[in-house]
Amino acid sequence: MSLDTPDVVVRSAEANAQGYHEFSLGEFTFRRDEFFAYITWPTGSHTMSADAFLRALQRDVAWDFFYGIVNFDGVFGTMNHYGTVDMFAGRYNDAYRKAELDYYENIETPKIRETFKSILDDWTNEGFDPFASPHETGSAFGIRHGTNTDAITRRRVAAARMVNVPGDEALRSDENGHPVNRMFADVGQDEPEIEAEPGFEGEVAAFSLFAYLSRSQVTWNPSVVSVCKDSLFCPTTEEYILPIIHGNDRVEWFVQLSDEIHWDVEDRDAGGIRARVVMRPGDVCAMPADIRHQGYAPKRSMLLVWENGSPALPDLIASGQTPTYPAEF
Ligand code: PHB
Ligand code: FE
Repeated sequence: MSLDTPDVVVRSAEANAQGYHEFSLGEFTFRRDEFFAYITWPTGSHTMSADAFLRALQRDVAWDFFYGIVNFDGVFGTMNHYGTVDMFAGRYNDAYRKAELDYYENIETPKIRETFKSILDDWTNEGFDPFASPHETGSAFGIRHGTNTDAITRRRVAAARMVNVPGDEALRSDENGHPVNRMFADVGQDEPEIEAEPGFEGEVAAFSLFAYLSRSQVTWNPSVVSVCKDSLFCPTTEEYILPIIHGNDRVEWFVQLSDEIHWDVEDRDAGGIRARVVMRPGDVCAMPADIRHQGYAPKRSMLLVWENGSPALPDLIASGQTPTYPAEF
């Protein structure tokens, strides 16, 4: 099975010699061969490993362009304006800016969404799952062979209130296709006992977050487990490298629940290194709104990402009405 190509997507009529179609979006073009993805724009061109490109593209598609900036690497990426998206090359890279080789186009979200989905589907071979740890999936490389549409169209788990509250998303279980991950075999699977006051039986819910996360099949893909106004708890399981460099448009908090993640923190706009953060279980940190970051997890670990989903924040921060840091000590 593969996805239909909607009319808004500009795709070559024929596949290339390696079996992949070529795409264009505005003045950008996209081509892949056995090993690499090639991107061109009016002032330059760029090459990425096909597996790194597909892992980043998968996140951008699944998160619908996320908060702020999704850098695929130091050159290419997207910035979300929540309705439109800037697709850029070299825009957040000091050297490209100084050489005046940077370029971007602002694109209606549905058009870039459909184009990215089509590229992801056309370029993902059978056996390669861009969401999976490299240890748990096949290779992205080679001439085109088959598809993996089921893997790349997974629905992101998002609770409307809290996981396990009546009417909401079912808990992950063996029965619904979520066995305990090989790296979390030691995580207890007991669920909390609920003793509600009479009359409140249907209104009190609880679940073991550790047991829930131990059954996640994907890496670097936060799921929303609770929503309280704009406060979103988005825990995730991590292994290997966050496939994007995330440029924040708001403060976000990290709570390290298990194992270890190393973060490289850079200036959001120019890319200079600002900090290295090593987080161990129980560590809490806030990432400021003017940085970008990429995480490295040597062993599958559990991370709670706490987001403020308020749509007012990017403008408040960009106009200086709200600081880029979270607290005054
Ligand atoms: C982040 O950019 O803050 C982020 C993204 C995905 C994750 C964890 C953190 O899995
Ligand atoms: Fe982030």
